[in-house]
Amino acid sequence: MTTSRPVPVLPSEGRRLAFIGKGGAGKSTMLAHFLAYWTSYGVPCIGIDTDVPGDDEHGTLYEHAQAADLGAPVYPAPAIHHIRNEAVRLTPEKGLGALDTGAWERKSGGPHVAVLSAVDLAVLCMQPTKNELNRAASVLGAIQQLEATGARAPKLAILLSMVDRSAASADDLDVTLSEAGYTVLRSRYHLSNGRDGLAQSFGEPIKVKPDSELDVMAREILDVVAR
Ligand SMILES: Nc1ncnc2c1ncn2[C@@H]1O[C@H](COP(=O)(O)OP(=O)(O)OP(=O)(O)O)[C@@H](O)[C@H]1O
Ligand SMILES: [Mg+2]
Repeated sequence: MTTSRPVPVLPSEGRRLAFIGKGGAGKSTMLAHFLAYWTSYGVPCIGIDTDVPGDDEHGTLYEHAQAADLGAPVYPAPAIHHIRNEAVRLTPEKGLGALDTGAWERKSGGPHVAVLSAVDLAVLCMQPTKNELNRAASVLGAIQQLEATGARAPKLAILLSMVDRSAASADDLDVTLSEAGYTVLRSRYHLSNGRDGLAQSFGEPIKVKPDSELDVMAREILDVVAR
């Protein structure tokens, strides 16, 4: 049983994390599942969607929560200047507040910089392609800029996502990123092969599967955010 395994104890004020990264990296799909996994471990959770759905945007975290029970409430996007206060206010005691974001952009006054200053941990979801190193540098630059202005800045962890099981590119990127000093999560989010159905999971009831890839990843993220 998953519940019999030790789960890290979060501080009384809870912890906040955000998933960031390129469009289509799997952020909303993963967070929808992780809310269900973390809740199943007994960690009180909430989600905040900072991605505002437009005509071309579908499958935001808020829409996931409307389409299926995630086991945790998900709140729609607050005004940008309220993101931090809302994240602090809504995160449960000894629990986790998880913020979903739209495609990464480093724009002062935009939601992403507000999200970075609202969380303890930024999880950069990164597909293993050549261009992605620039994106990591852009995120790190934004974090360093926050630090320079005295604003709160999160820790950064990189999650390799949409990884093709048969390709070596993720291993190469993992080595490059680790050598450059980034924290790379051991767990990876793989392209679904049709059987696990993650690509088709929108609106389906979420089944928490012990020892699955998502279970291992959800626990690793919990360990990192608790540190
Ligand atoms: N493991 C997977 N394998 C293949 N496709 C997936 C997988 N997980 C999710 N998808 C599909 O990939 C697309 C993008 O996923 P998702 O919406 O979660 O990404 P996102 O990072 O939230 O994107 P955005 O930045 O636009 O919000 C969706 O159509 C989703 O159903
Ligand atoms: Mg999304």
